[in-house]
Amino acid sequence: MDRNEILSWLKETDTEKLNELWQKADKVRLENVGPEVHLRGLIEISSYCVRRCGYCGLNADNKLQRYRMTRDEIIECAHAAVEYEYGTVVMQAGEDYGLKTEFIADIVREIKNTTNLAVTLSLGERIDDLAIWREAGADRYLLRFETSNHELYEKIHPSLPNQNCDRFEILKKLGELGYEVGSGVMIGIPGQSYETLATDIETFGKFDLDMIGVGPFISHPDTMLGREGDQMKLPEGQQVPNTEDMVYKVVALTRLMCPQANIPATSALATINTEDGRENGLNRGANIVMPNLTPVKYRAMYEIYPDKACVNETANQCRFCLAGRIESIGRTVGQGQGGRKKII
Ligand code: 5AD
Ligand code: FES
Repeated sequence: MDRNEILSWLKETDTEKLNELWQKADKVRLENVGPEVHLRGLIEISSYCVRRCGYCGLNADNKLQRYRMTRDEIIECAHAAVEYEYGTVVMQAGEDYGLKTEFIADIVREIKNTTNLAVTLSLGERIDDLAIWREAGADRYLLRFETSNHELYEKIHPSLPNQNCDRFEILKKLGELGYEVGSGVMIGIPGQSYETLATDIETFGKFDLDMIGVGPFISHPDTMLGREGDQMKLPEGQQVPNTEDMVYKVVALTRLMCPQANIPATSALATINTEDGRENGLNRGANIVMPNLTPVKYRAMYEIYPDKACVNETANQCRFCLAGRIESIGRTVGQGQGGRKKII
């Protein structure tokens, strides 16, 4: 798929033409990753964060009630994942150095020793810890690069003092360490042009990512973009809108670009269309969903963006709700870890 083709799909508005794109992506999805939809149990283990990202409600400047789950709470969630027959747990948090290297390594070892779960980590730019966690048994790591436009990235993701981190370097390192590597972007960030978004999709292909998560940017009032986002928007015709259709286009194009990748219908997509956002995502290229396993008492405190889907549902409710949604569109719940099958 060449760049002009990507750009013209991103700008396409004709419903019939778009139906062609959805069908093409759905076919490529079926041929490459099959009818199964794999469930990844998400555990939001800490809402502390040292970063000051302009998009994220957990940014260090935001006065929030914060939490950090205990070892026992996390292990208990992992065991719930086994009971629900999920093949993977994803431990996600802000960039929280209060989650000590050994604390995480120990939990990873415990989960790997007592279950058949794949363990995915999504704990930010913890460069010095990645090798140790991999050795402890972690299988996968998620780190979205958020946007391929360097200037925009710097604006929305300020560096830590004395530390200049390149997320692409980290993604490369993760691959070298033997992790399955996940990344992705937000769609409709103020200042994101169609050109940038086309480069994002090309970048997915270039890095041969195993997992690619894309979702709409959702403005959070207690962030820089919540306050200044409107002024950062590009002129009409250049600014990518953060609409549902734009997300589907990117999901579909991502599937065409990376036929073998695991692509979730994200919670952010479910948030902008609670009715059938996930189902549409799954019908337009996606093959993964990530039910929330976080204890309900913590969920509302992990407010990356407002009105997050499933904030008040229990893990058990999400499990049945999602299985029903998957079956309603003629798909099956995947068994096993559902890792990427690499064609060598
Ligand atoms: N809107 C949409 N997605 C967001 N994320 C963070 N903040 C927002 C927001 N306001 C996404 C980022 C991050 C992932 C965990 O959540 O892409 O990598
Ligand atoms: Fe949580 Fe449906 S997935 S309620």
